[in-house]
Amino acid sequence: VTPKDLLGRRIVVTAGGTREPLDPVRYIGNRSSGKQGLAIAVGAAARGATVTLVGANLEVHAAASDDLHVVHVSTTLELEAAVTAAAAEADVVVMAAAVADYRPESVAPAKIKKDVQGDTLQLTLVKNPDILAGLAGARRDGQVIVGFAAETVDDREQLLALGRAKIARKGADYLVLNRVGWTEGFATESNSIIVVNSAGDIVSEASGTKTSVAARILDLLT
Ligand code: C5P
Repeated sequence: VTPKDLLGRRIVVTAGGTREPLDPVRYIGNRSSGKQGLAIAVGAAARGATVTLVGANLEVHAAASDDLHVVHVSTTLELEAAVTAAAAEADVVVMAAAVADYRPESVAPAKIKKDVQGDTLQLTLVKNPDILAGLAGARRDGQVIVGFAAETVDDREQLLALGRAKIARKGADYLVLNRVGWTEGFATESNSIIVVNSAGDIVSEASGTKTSVAARILDLLT
């Protein structure tokens, strides 16, 4: 039987990857499937938490239940609005979603046409808000903020160095680090993570299915 060691906790999890539209039919996106975030949300609900999953373009089906509320979003600004609203009532926020750092400055009202554009097409992108840093800055007493850092690095030391700098910059309580690449991390069945705390200390390490990795992350929240 699953221990109900998260009973009564209110947890918000973001999952998936945001999409930033260029025109009515095209977007800039990333390859996050939402599997790791969904595994965290489902695992937390099974352990007794009340969960709000903010899903950005999930490639996996999220079955809502009494303990698992699902809010679907697409763009970074939509995700920000949904997670900020849900965070107001939450004990824990887990930002597993892969959020676009930039969005097109303007969205074309109709399809961008190559006969009009010619041989090159220049896009101007503007920076999106850093949602994680915003949530950490606005955190209530006792609220726990968990971020993710997916990095294309060669080795563990580089990953840790980037992670420690990132958690200091963002002000989160925990940062889940994992390597990603053409064949790793995104849209795969398994994952390998290191979790650091705000002091930069390693507090957990796990490898395996995304469900088993989710369980180790949730252990930190009991
Ligand atoms: O800076 P970086 O994108 O690597 O940070 C990753 C973490 O920050 C993830 O938890 C992601 O959900 C979050 N993030 C965010 N807003 C952004 C970019 C990333 O909340 N604009």
